[in-house]
Amino acid sequence: KSNEYADFLEAHALMAKFYRHLLLNTNEGNEALHYLHERGFTDEDIDRFQIGWSLPQNEFSLNVLQKRGFDPARMEEAGLLLKKEETGRYYDRFRGRIMFPIHDERGNVVGFSGRGLENVQPKYLNSPETALFHKSSLLYNFHVAKTAIKRQKQFILFEGFADVIAAVRAGFDQSVAVMGTSLTEEHVRLLKKIANEAIICYDGDNAGLNAAYKAADMLDKNGISVNVTMLPDGLDPDEFIKRNGHESFAAYVKDASLTLMAFKMEYFKRGKNLREDSQKFRYIEDVLVEIAGLKKAVERDHYLRRLADEFSLSLQALQEQEKALFLKKR
Ligand code: UTP
Ligand code: MN
Ligand code: MN
Ligand code: MN
Ligand code: MN
Repeated sequence: KSNEYADFLEAHALMAKFYRHLLLNTNEGNEALHYLHERGFTDEDIDRFQIGWSLPQNEFSLNVLQKRGFDPARMEEAGLLLKKEETGRYYDRFRGRIMFPIHDERGNVVGFSGRGLENVQPKYLNSPETALFHKSSLLYNFHVAKTAIKRQKQFILFEGFADVIAAVRAGFDQSVAVMGTSLTEEHVRLLKKIANEAIICYDGDNAGLNAAYKAADMLDKNGISVNVTMLPDGLDPDEFIKRNGHESFAAYVKDASLTLMAFKMEYFKRGKNLREDSQKFRYIEDVLVEIAGLKKAVERDHYLRRLADEFSLSLQALQEQEKALFLKKR
């Protein structure tokens, strides 16, 4: 298949090189380079992740590609160009954006995500689905991280590009990210082959927590043992590292990450006033349903005790209620 799409691969490799050159060596790239530095990206990060800059022109990529003999119609299919229906003219998809190349498992560039400098919409413009670019099965940085993942049998899952880059800078080579989608069964299949342990480190905002909940359940169902890092103050990992430093982040990931059940207990608390009886009982019921779903009796016992302690309830009453739910589940 990659033979049939050799021109897609060559074109992406070529453009990644051009975008890099524009970012690093030209006046036009200066503002973007400065933006990256301001955000805390180092030159080593830029090098390692092959970050670049696309000129805010309509026909820069078009001209480069045409000069090298690439067919514009094919390059539209490859996601690098767009076509104006009225005139039939081709023009650049990525204009005036910081370019993050996205690699397949083998390390070929198969797509890009471009971040606007200002508050433009969309914040990140991605390659469209093409013959080689499938967001639902690609993970950012997987081609590099897989070595560390295999060695540690563990991966850390992030939501964003900047988060992965900051985490790698902090020494976590086993970092990968989904790209603006939920975690899919395809992603899990890929990861399951080389790891049995996951740390989910999504953004600390509501969207991030909800997505973490879903991803955690999916990994757990696939037999991967999951911990979840809940970052404070709605921060995302990149922001957290910038504010609190590498060591503090490492402590969060390693020591303060929650077991799946502990995470769920925190998760169910959101939006509830636990000093109010009806809401407290709803919370306890939510947690009991989860506890009843645990396979190991020792774990069920552990979390029942925790719940009993937290709300000064009789362990026996909780056990009874849990048992009813447990029997219903089987
Ligand atoms: P976020 O909105 O959390 O962005 O989206 P971010 O990664 O923190 O971005 P910065 O730090 O402002 O640069 C998380 C991820 O969702 C995808 C990207 O992969 C992003 O990293 N996304 C987000 C898109 O694909 N398109 C968008 O417009 C926004
Ligand atoms: Mn600078
Ligand atoms: Mn987010
Ligand atoms: Mn974010
Ligand atoms: Mn961010």
